[in-house]
Amino acid sequence: MDIIDKINALKEEKDIAILAHNYQPPEVQDIADYLGDSLDLCYRAQDLEEGTILFAGVKFMAESALILNPEKTVLLPEPNAYCPMAAMLTPDIITKKKEQYPDASVVLYGNTTAASKALSDIICTSANAAQIVEAADSDTILFGPDKNLLHWTQQQTDKTLIPIPDEGYCYVHNLLIRPEDVLHLKSRHPDAKLLVHPECIPQVQSIADNVLSTNGMLKIASISSEKEFIIGTEKGLCYRLRNELPNKIFYEVEHAICADMKKVTLEKIYHTMKTGDNKIVLPEKILDAAREPLERMLAIGRKN
Ligand code: 13P
Ligand code: SF4
Repeated sequence: MDIIDKINALKEEKDIAILAHNYQPPEVQDIADYLGDSLDLCYRAQDLEEGTILFAGVKFMAESALILNPEKTVLLPEPNAYCPMAAMLTPDIITKKKEQYPDASVVLYGNTTAASKALSDIICTSANAAQIVEAADSDTILFGPDKNLLHWTQQQTDKTLIPIPDEGYCYVHNLLIRPEDVLHLKSRHPDAKLLVHPECIPQVQSIADNVLSTNGMLKIASISSEKEFIIGTEKGLCYRLRNELPNKIFYEVEHAICADMKKVTLEKIYHTMKTGDNKIVLPEKILDAAREPLERMLAIGRKN
């Protein structure tokens, strides 16, 4: 039996569903039961019949799956797969800012630790940030950790968004997808539409045809009459796009790679399924406090 057959056999034997983020390596996408963006995978995690969820992604995603399903087992095949941006916002920063702005609502991006989520009023993702800000109780919002998502969201609301921390960002989108990268691709492929993630810097957002979540990019490419697209996000998404939309052409930013997303391998997935190692465990207090902000978001849904 090869490793793929062994993984498929263990899914049955141990009642495990594999959820994988759109940035996962191709071979991991191929064995996933469900692929999605952060929001989609939260919904999927709520619908599963299997008792165990193996999360092929980074830690905050697996934590959200557990927060929403505390009775299930959630496994993260690479325990050191973190989102560096999530680490930029500590509970301490939130608490101090809340003291400064006691009447503000706290809207946090899903890319945050469970301990930070527990201090928030409502969560958002790249698929619904403006909608969520509008739904928040206050007109002043502590928003974090991504300064570029804040910039994008601020264009769509009259509410006042205050960044927490002052300068949070994703190194892949903020540092590796520069205006010159997308302009170079545009000059080589003048008919291609430019789709970028809201974690990209404002100068990249402003030259894009659309600013979207990763599932939003899949959706717009599938319904659009256009044939060619430049994809301004982590390049793993292009594998899914090419698989699902074989008649369209996608151009990636070659060096836009999230190292933590690529730490997940078939060998680690197999090992984790077999042994049950790398179980996500969170204190009950945090699990309970983080659930309401996540569920508030899920009740609102998706914009793009
Ligand atoms: P999406 O929810 O749009 O997939 O984004 C998640 C992420 O980590 C972006 O870097
Ligand atoms: Fe975090 Fe950026 Fe990687 Fe997404 S691409 S998981 S935001 S480091």
